[in-house]
Amino acid sequence: MAQHDDGVGGHGPAATDAPGSAVVLSDDAGTGVVPTDAIINPGFPPHNPRQTNLDPAKEKRAERQVAILFFLSIIGSVFALAAYMAFPITSDFGSIRLNNMFLGMGITLGLLGIGLGAVHWAKQLMREDESVEYRHGTRGTEATREKAVEVFELGNEESGFGRRTLIRNSLIGALVLTPVPAVALFRGLAPDTDPIKLLQHTMWKAGTRLTHDPTGIPIKASDVTLGSAFHVIPEGLNERSDALEQKAKAAVLLMRLKPEDLHVSPSRKTWNYEGIIAYSKICTHVGCPVALYEQQTHHLLCPCHQSQFDITHEARVIFGPARRPLPQLPITIDSEGYLIARSDFHEPVGPDFWERNL
Ligand code: FES
Repeated sequence: MAQHDDGVGGHGPAATDAPGSAVVLSDDAGTGVVPTDAIINPGFPPHNPRQTNLDPAKEKRAERQVAILFFLSIIGSVFALAAYMAFPITSDFGSIRLNNMFLGMGITLGLLGIGLGAVHWAKQLMREDESVEYRHGTRGTEATREKAVEVFELGNEESGFGRRTLIRNSLIGALVLTPVPAVALFRGLAPDTDPIKLLQHTMWKAGTRLTHDPTGIPIKASDVTLGSAFHVIPEGLNERSDALEQKAKAAVLLMRLKPEDLHVSPSRKTWNYEGIIAYSKICTHVGCPVALYEQQTHHLLCPCHQSQFDITHEARVIFGPARRPLPQLPITIDSEGYLIARSDFHEPVGPDFWERNL
C-alpha cells in the first residue's frame, strides 16, 4: 500500500506527536504501529489472608465442612442406588414418577456434594495468593520434567491432598460411588433374559394361527386371493403383556402367488400352501419393517434403505444393503382351513447378530 506523510488521500493514519500510536514509514509494505504509551503493570493487589490462614481452629472447621460435603455426596449416591431398587418402574405411571424423582434427588446430591466440596476446599484451604507464571518454551527437557514433578509435589503440598487424609479419602469415596447409580441405570436398559435366546426365537410355533394385524382375526387360506398381501401377527399376541416386543420379532407378510411362479428349494417344498407364502417383515439390514409389496414384480421393498427381496426366489436380496434373505415362516392349514405355522422361522429374524449362521 502506498504511504502518505500528510495523512490526506492515503488509507493509513497520519503521523502525529500526540500520545497514542505513531505511524512508522518503512520500505517494506504495510504500516507498523508502535505503541508509545504502554499500560503500566499495576501489580498484584495487597494480599489479605483468610480466616483459615490465621486461625488453625477455623482451618480445621473448614476441613470438616469439606469432608461433610463429600460425605453428603456419598449419601446421595447410595440413596440413588437404593431408590432405584426400592422404586422399580412398573406399568404404573406413578412408579415412573417416584423412580425418577428419588433417583434424580440422589444423583443431584451426589454430584452437588462433590462440586460444592471441591469449591469450598479451593476457596478456604488451598493456597490463594496470586502469582505470575511467565510463558516459556514447551520442550520437554529433563529440567522441565523435574520442574513439573516439583510443581506437582508443591501443588500436593499446598492443597494438602496427601496430608489431609480425611478430605482425600472422603473425596475418593465420593468419586468412586458417584458413577454407581449409572451402572444400575444402564443395567436396567438391558433385557432380563439372555439376549441371544431372546433374539433367536419368536412366539411362532407349530399350530399357531396366522391372524390379521392389528385385529388378531384368524386368516383362512380361502381369504388370501391371488396377488393380495396381508400384514400378519401370531394368534394370541394382543393378549400378551409384552405384545410390542413380541410383535417386533414375529411380524409377517403373507402373499399369494401362482404356485408355478415360486422357485423353492426341495427342503422348502412344504413351507407354502398352494402359493401362499409367509416371510418375516423385519428387514435383515437393520430391522425396519419391510412393508411394501410390488404385486407385478413380486418384490418386497424396505423403505429405510431400499433393500429389495424377491419372494419368487425365497426372498433373496436383489438390491440394497441387506445381506440375507428374509426368513421364511413355514405354513399350512388346520382342519378348519385357517392358516397356521408349521414351526417358528427357520432362522433368527432381523439384522445380523453374532449367533446367526452365515
Ligand atoms: Fe431395510 Fe436398511 S433396514 S434396507
